Amino acid sequence: MKYPLVIGNWKLNGSLSFVNTFIPTLVYAIKNIKNCKVVIAPPVIYLGQVKKILHKSFIELCAQNVDIHSFGAFTGEISSEMLKDIGIKYVIIGHSERRILHAETDQVIAKKLTVLKKAGLIPVLCIGETESEYQKGQTKEACARQIDTIFVLNGPKAFNNVVIAYEPIWAIGSGKSAHPDQVQDVHAFIRQHISRKDKKIADLITLQYGGSVDNKNVGDLLSQPDVDGVLVGSACLNLENFLKIINVADKKNEYNF
Ligand code: PGA
Repeated sequence: MKYPLVIGNWKLNGSLSFVNTFIPTLVYAIKNIKNCKVVIAPPVIYLGQVKKILHKSFIELCAQNVDIHSFGAFTGEISSEMLKDIGIKYVIIGHSERRILHAETDQVIAKKLTVLKKAGLIPVLCIGETESEYQKGQTKEACARQIDTIFVLNGPKAFNNVVIAYEPIWAIGSGKSAHPDQVQDVHAFIRQHISRKDKKIADLITLQYGGSVDNKNVGDLLSQPDVDGVLVGSACLNLENFLKIINVADKKNEYNF
């Protein structure tokens, strides 16, 4: 059975005191959650402290970025090996904020996927269309382009043990989530696009939706058959909202929506 995957991306938010209050409360509050995977992505500087508090909790850690190099004169960068070294399991790549604000190209993102897989980490590859592509009806084309660059560099099995997060750029941080029917349509397309190279990988891949997910829309989003999880930004910083999202995800299989 595929367990829904909830990832909370803190982005550039948090502090030591936030970590020290939020994480123990979260660990305690979800100790009985059994049917959903919970992952948090705090800023890299807090990963060690979060890891210490998580101790034996089932909650996994995710980094928000990685460099394409393993070591050397690359000031300010962090390698996949270093993330692995401190016990990180997932790494977000291709987030639109990095594509736009840090000029990361599809090619750079494809290389990041290569280094993560080499280190045995799970890439959470974000893809999605701009507002203008959405308005022109080019959503699937944009997603296919981003997926195909990964195939070119990493071959037909590129998506083995990879998470894809479909995040329409216009929905991120806007308070305006994509409609669940549209999300389902795009997710089914993504799965089908990957299955053209490898059906087994396509069937197994976890497809998350991200973009203004909150405790009110998460049920409708997760009720879609091809929505296997959610990548949550702002709503994950509010403990009450994040807990509600996790509790809804935990029931996805039980209700068989
Ligand atoms: P949001 O962010 O939930 O605040 O829209 C999602 C994301 O950027 O992954």
